[in-house]
Amino acid sequence: MSSRPVGFFDSGLGGLCILEAFKKECPLESTVYIADSANCPYGNKSAEDIVNLSDANVKRLLDKDCKMIVVACNTASAAALEYLRAKYPAIPFVGIEPAIKPAAIESKTGVVGVLATAGTFNGRLYNETKAKFAKNVTIIATVADEFVDLVERGVTSGLEAERIVREKIEPLLDARCDKIVLGCTHFPHLKPLIEKVAGNKAEIIEPSQAVALRAKYILKNANLMNDANLEPRHIFISTKKDCD
Ligand code: DGL
Repeated sequence: MSSRPVGFFDSGLGGLCILEAFKKECPLESTVYIADSANCPYGNKSAEDIVNLSDANVKRLLDKDCKMIVVACNTASAAALEYLRAKYPAIPFVGIEPAIKPAAIESKTGVVGVLATAGTFNGRLYNETKAKFAKNVTIIATVADEFVDLVERGVTSGLEAERIVREKIEPLLDARCDKIVLGCTHFPHLKPLIEKVAGNKAEIIEPSQAVALRAKYILKNANLMNDANLEPRHIFISTKKDCD
């Protein structure tokens, strides 16, 4: 039982889709969200840089007295989750990874597309899950850093966004992917456009809801859910200078 806030961070605005799903599941919880937009993108940075940036985000969240931290970024989870859990053993962490397990199980064509950053594809988490649960399907891994840039600029519809989405999605459809996994938290912000391009050829899979449920489960299990009858507070922090 604790009215302390739950912390979230991402390289930028992507993780807001996780935050929104969490707020629906846990409407009494206060939250603090850090968008590290000054250092975005994380996707092509070294693992060491991502660990350092993630650690700085966690320190800021702990300064705000967060009781649990959701790493709302696949790339940061891949590079830093293990490090963070070891460094802060008293804090529960929830991470995120591309949902290739359900996609592989449900695919009828046996071809699954995964969109993520290079950092996520190079991480141990993704490669272990792939080896365990997706060895019977063909995975087409596509780096889509351009989507991150679109979302950070707030361009989630219109001709430019549609052209870039087509460039990434059409080759996956041509390769007979019937499931497309959004393995970066920026990408669900483009989901309406991705769905428009995919039509009825492929189902788009993204795990915001699953991560929110996992976070709720961990809070409950640790007896950390808020039971105070107070309006929750939601704080948004951006590291970009003009947003301070
Ligand atoms: N939103 C982040 C993720 O889920 C990555 C975007 C970036 O490259 O910074 O992987």
